[in-house]
Amino acid sequence: MKILGIESSCDETAASVVEDGRIILSSVISSQIDIHKRFGGVVPEIASRNHTLAIRQVVDEALVQAGVGLDEVDAIAVTYGAGLVGALLVGVSYAKALSYATGKPLYAVNHIQGHIAANYLAHPDLEPPYLCLVASGGHTALVRVKDYTDFEVMGMSTDDACGEAFDKVARVIGLEYPGGPKIEALAREGEDVVPMPRMLKGHKGYDFSYSGLKTAVINYVHTLEQKGLEIPRENIACSFQNCAISMLVDNAVRCAKTLGEKKIVVAGGVGANGYLRERLTLEADKYGIQTLYPPKHLCTDNASMIAGAGYYEVLSGRPATLDLNAVPSLNITDRY
Ligand code: KG4
Ligand code: ZN
Repeated sequence: MKILGIESSCDETAASVVEDGRIILSSVISSQIDIHKRFGGVVPEIASRNHTLAIRQVVDEALVQAGVGLDEVDAIAVTYGAGLVGALLVGVSYAKALSYATGKPLYAVNHIQGHIAANYLAHPDLEPPYLCLVASGGHTALVRVKDYTDFEVMGMSTDDACGEAFDKVARVIGLEYPGGPKIEALAREGEDVVPMPRMLKGHKGYDFSYSGLKTAVINYVHTLEQKGLEIPRENIACSFQNCAISMLVDNAVRCAKTLGEKKIVVAGGVGANGYLRERLTLEADKYGIQTLYPPKHLCTDNASMIAGAGYYEVLSGRPATLDLNAVPSLNITDRY
């Protein structure tokens, strides 16, 4: 079964053709990073406008690269939330129009469930159940994946997402958007010597919190600036990253141990972080817990993960109708 996936929830316009939820036939991503960089983050209105400019070409290119005509596609899957409403609407409207014009069934995909499904593309033998650590620019959560379309949130961020904290800290120390990869690179040149609040230390649940950590770094930088002192950017990057990643690793491993899960699977943009991969693998190994990561290009936003998740929506037999709308604040476990 060949599924055309369409993704436009943030600043990437993407389309992909995936076979049987596992094999990527094509993947096209038109990134707006260069456009938003100078504003230090994604400007929603500019994102929507650029999606409308790119979407037709991106979808056409995905079909050409896959060597598949629209008539050979079995279904169309599109991200309908969570994300920026104007951005989501471009993908949703385009997918609805394609579905209407071709008669192909339409499936609505939850963006976070897409991130999780990226792992089925990367690991052909992976099957639920497992524990998924989701860490992106908009979400940080521990999700128990009981089945392909059955999810339970064990813990989530009570304020900022982990990727969001990386982006904001990056900005305050003069790094470009998106800050995650730049902090990771700078951290390699620094030492963990800047005092950071040890967030939620010793707490019993599996929730995350990044706003206190972010504010602590911002205050630290402002105090040094007011005193006219040099900003130790490398050390800040290193100390912040250690602290942010520790929270992910500690919670994930503790949760897996308590639930008796033998597999931790990582999803979302922050999953591309090499330090996270190293630390999580090391810590999980101690308890005989296996760790799985998608390749970095499947951690950040793409449409293959949407087509992949769409496959399991098809199997569960819940097509969307043409009244499908964008849902900007869709919950992790929500489905159409
Ligand atoms: O999953 P994603 O592409 O988009 C959302 O759904 O939000 O995640 C983007 C986020 C950004 O905040 C970006 O800074 C972060 O993932 N990110 C990283 C790394 N690469 C991307 N954070 C830390 N280390 C990285 N190497
Ligand atoms: Zn994403």
